[in-house]
Amino acid sequence: MEKLIINGGKPLRGTVKISGAKNAVLPAIAATLLGQDRVTVLDEVPNLDDVRTISEVLKTLGVKVQHVPEQCQLIVDASSIENITAPYELVRRMRASFLIMGPLLARLGEAKISLPGGCAIGTRPIDLHLKGFEALGAQISIGHGYIEAKAPNGLKGARIYLDFPSVGATENILMAASMAEGLSVIENPAQEPEIVDLANYLNIMGAKIRGAGTNVIKVEGVKKLVAHDYTIIPDRIEAGTYMIAAAMTRGDVYIANAISEHIKPVIAKLKEAGVTVDEDVDGIRVACDHRPKAVDIKTLPYPGFPTDMQAQFMAMLTISTGSAMVTETVFENRFMHVDELRRMGARIKIDGRTAMVHGVDYLTGCQVKATDLRAGAAIVLAGLVAEGETQIGYIHHIDRGYDNLVEKLVNLGADIRRVDQ
Ligand code: EPU
Repeated sequence: MEKLIINGGKPLRGTVKISGAKNAVLPAIAATLLGQDRVTVLDEVPNLDDVRTISEVLKTLGVKVQHVPEQCQLIVDASSIENITAPYELVRRMRASFLIMGPLLARLGEAKISLPGGCAIGTRPIDLHLKGFEALGAQISIGHGYIEAKAPNGLKGARIYLDFPSVGATENILMAASMAEGLSVIENPAQEPEIVDLANYLNIMGAKIRGAGTNVIKVEGVKKLVAHDYTIIPDRIEAGTYMIAAAMTRGDVYIANAISEHIKPVIAKLKEAGVTVDEDVDGIRVACDHRPKAVDIKTLPYPGFPTDMQAQFMAMLTISTGSAMVTETVFENRFMHVDELRRMGARIKIDGRTAMVHGVDYLTGCQVKATDLRAGAAIVLAGLVAEGETQIGYIHHIDRGYDNLVEKLVNLGADIRRVDQ
């Protein structure tokens, strides 16, 4: 087991380059299952454990996958798919494995995937995915820990209203509908940039999708999709995390490759907190020479404040001037970082889905653990400003979603290293 050791107090300075987006590359890898006739090369693929896990899932289906991390590429040959089952061992490790159900149903008319089970940030049901598949004509059965979906005569286009704009359900339904017969209309879909990226990728494979990024998506089903190379968009959450790191450490960092349009609520909140944020076409500069002001945040589906930035923003609030309210509306249990931040001296009170954060003058380093990916990012940020040494355990959570975190932070002047426990 490895851990991270951080000696806090160094202002971050310089340039960091943002990698491809975890939450865009995972659906894109699932979508490679739809591409026939030739090999797919995905570019700007981040070097993450989640990428390795979904690659394992594809390999269990008999698909050929080659990861070339030095070139940020993943090469997939899905010309033949021999198996339609995703086992518990892989789905348990990563819920996004469920994203292969839509493509398998569309291409082969059947899929069998282990039920994902519990999750650290909430119950995370998959009812909306299943409702969508059923509307498209699939028969769903659940037994022995597996969900089986069958559409032996193919899927049929349908009108589907999502009760909540779920990112995963929108992606799964989009992939299934792209090869269904006739027109599908998805109402109240998720509007995240990752949805637009997936639709763009499916469209260059030959799909006919309009309206991705708005509150109605129309999909005219096609008979076949042809494999095509694709470049993944930059990770807006990784960008947001480095923006907070620059602000908290009273540094000055240029976040290259970040698309400011994708991270507007975080930019707006940082500006409200008195942090300097300059945007240009190639990236975002964040600088700060004082303690940020406390500002309230409330997470919402895109274009609202992203839930995936809540923990990191809270880390900044712990050392801000004043008090602020953090409201989490997307997941019901996404405050696992609070106990760890408290161990470092933060003053936070939780009442249901709201946390009240009272800024303190300083945090102190100690032993803490990453309880999930973004909670892990939050305590890394806290460690960067804490007095003395912070030791972070359970860092496999962080490796799921941050490409080369230690090297990128060291290049910016942080005192952080990885050691074997
Ligand atoms: N939900 C349902 N039923 C469903 C699906 C979702 O009730 O069938 C609920 C969930 O329980 C949750 C809410 O809807 O309360 C949002 O879930 P959503 O489906 O939108 O999330 P997801 O697709 O499971 C993706 C990201 C998450 C990110 C969320 C929200 C990927 C691989 N994961 O998850 O990323 O938090 O959208 O933006 O795209 C992360 O990167 O740290 C992460 C957790």
